[in-house]
Amino acid sequence: MLKVDDSALPETEVTDIRSYLASQENKTLLRFLTCGSVDDGKSTLIGRLLYDTKLIFEDQLATLEQDSRKHGTTGDDIDFALLVDGLEEERQQGITIDVAYRFFSTPKRKFIVADTPGHEQYTRNMATGASSADLAVVLVDARQGVLAQTRRHSIIASLLGIRHIVLAVNKIDLVGFDEEVFKRIVMEYTAFAKDLGFASIVPIPMSARYGDNVTRASDNTPWYTGPSLIDHLETVDVEGDAAERPFRFPVQYVNRPNHEFRGFAGTVASGSIAVGDDVVVAKSDKRSRVKRIATYDGDRESAFEGEAVTLLLDDEIEVSRGNMLVAPDARPHVADQLAANVVWFDEHPLLPGRMYLLRTETDQVNATVSHLKHRTNVNNFAHEAAKSLELNEVGVCNFSLQAPIAFDSFEENRTTGAFVLIDRLTNATVGAGMILHPLRRAANIHWQALDVTKTSRAELKHQKPAILWFTGLSGSGKSTIANLLEKKLHAAGRHTYILDGDNVRHGLNRDLGFTEEDRVENIRRVGEVARLMTEAGLIVLVSFISPFRAERRMARDMMEEGEFIEVFVDTPFEECAKRDPKGLYARALKGEIKNFTGVDSPYEVPELADVHLPTMGRSPEDLVDELETWLKERGYC
Ligand code: ADX
Repeated sequence: MLKVDDSALPETEVTDIRSYLASQENKTLLRFLTCGSVDDGKSTLIGRLLYDTKLIFEDQLATLEQDSRKHGTTGDDIDFALLVDGLEEERQQGITIDVAYRFFSTPKRKFIVADTPGHEQYTRNMATGASSADLAVVLVDARQGVLAQTRRHSIIASLLGIRHIVLAVNKIDLVGFDEEVFKRIVMEYTAFAKDLGFASIVPIPMSARYGDNVTRASDNTPWYTGPSLIDHLETVDVEGDAAERPFRFPVQYVNRPNHEFRGFAGTVASGSIAVGDDVVVAKSDKRSRVKRIATYDGDRESAFEGEAVTLLLDDEIEVSRGNMLVAPDARPHVADQLAANVVWFDEHPLLPGRMYLLRTETDQVNATVSHLKHRTNVNNFAHEAAKSLELNEVGVCNFSLQAPIAFDSFEENRTTGAFVLIDRLTNATVGAGMILHPLRRAANIHWQALDVTKTSRAELKHQKPAILWFTGLSGSGKSTIANLLEKKLHAAGRHTYILDGDNVRHGLNRDLGFTEEDRVENIRRVGEVARLMTEAGLIVLVSFISPFRAERRMARDMMEEGEFIEVFVDTPFEECAKRDPKGLYARALKGEIKNFTGVDSPYEVPELADVHLPTMGRSPEDLVDELETWLKERGYC
């Protein structure tokens, strides 16, 4: 929505600006991004486009700009409003912005170009820029030809749902405008890209620096008869068959200003809707009919893809935020297991077993990667075995969600088929997902209802089930304290069990080592086992280093309020290394043991432990007394 403060302008000029803005609004908008290696000339190209289109446009803008400047609203404000529009959308998707958006316009079309920095964080920047782009301009330096970076960016563009490519063979002046060079590059690129599913690849020889074939046909390339870049951008059809796709309406919020009015606000993600149409609530299967379509400018008979409206239904059915209204005859998937392409853009790798927040257009749910199926080599598209996804890597993962969500495949719908992954502790967006398909597993495994419950099992034992989760460095005293406490609890008639890292690693977790991935899985399994034991009514003492906050938090979240008690056994590294009960510190410090906690593998100190036990200068008996008192005061023993 364009907004200009025109209150200071005389009436005639207001009309001019209004008619100008109206003409802008009626033009279609093309969003595209540029990608390529660092020196391929992206910035020059964008600068050239902005400069040249401004010249084309100058006549029309001249008067307006002058007037605006006089009255303190410059032409730039108009650009800025649109720019902000572009940013808003990405923000709503929870992606951190490190991408510059630029707006420009020709008499035929409006454009927003995402200028994505090409170095270190390229997947993040590309994912940000591409999430709403229709087309990618892939720049190639005519002297260099197709490089690894060209292939990587093209594969990522394809994964991110971009269907139209301009292969900009740039710096053609530096190879003497040689047709052979151009042809060779085009052949190499099209051979490489044939499996990437692009609907169009338009190669253009150009010199961004001198403007050849950017906004005007060049005399220097008489052998080239295709369009200039701007001609192509102005005319390329990226709409496809959008209108025929099924109706999807992710509900952003429920609008209920008074008792008479209850509307569901959102943006039509695909298809169309008209008053009188039947709709279904995706997750609950409840059916109703559209009574009214309300907008800020009054009621409408119908609404189409991309339009923000409020729908009022015939019946008082429950539609919460995070749900979708959909066409009854073409429903999305509703599942808690799915497979997706993931691009990872965090320094810290994606680890199977770790829990992330999965956020779709309107919904969010905790999710773990249940299986990393493969990593995709972004140079040649090969599938490779992998245990984690590192910064800038791409792979296919199975996800297991804590609750079902409604979605389509990304191929069918770039809005309802996409999600971002968020680190639950830092709130950073760490990855983007493009859904491939639901996994049926969950549909066949139901919870078996059991008559003897956790409560009845606990009542029989006259106790409150709980997990006492001891965390701390190796040799900090976790097992000693847990052991002493268990003896006391046992003597008092409590039913207990100790899960100890060293012991569990001899059986259930025999297959796991000490890499980050293995430790995540180690704690996930122990968390599950401990939870089952509390179901049995036991008080469980878990004694594991459990160095990562994310997994301790996950274990906590599996439990009911008050059942998970995190005990930080706080002994400084130097003291543990001095005690060194198993001689492991000495070996680790000599480099004989890899990934040793505190040496070359991190320990993330608990920030919100329920019980903090600094051990220096205190006896184990003393510490156990303190812990016992704490438990007694809260009715655990
Ligand atoms: S955790 O990090 O995955 O929670 P866990 O508590 O199961 O670790 O196992 C830690 C025990 O394994 C230590 O007390 C120590 O005896 C032994 N160990 C062997 N190698 C290592 C290592 N590289 N890092 C930490 N502990 C190790």
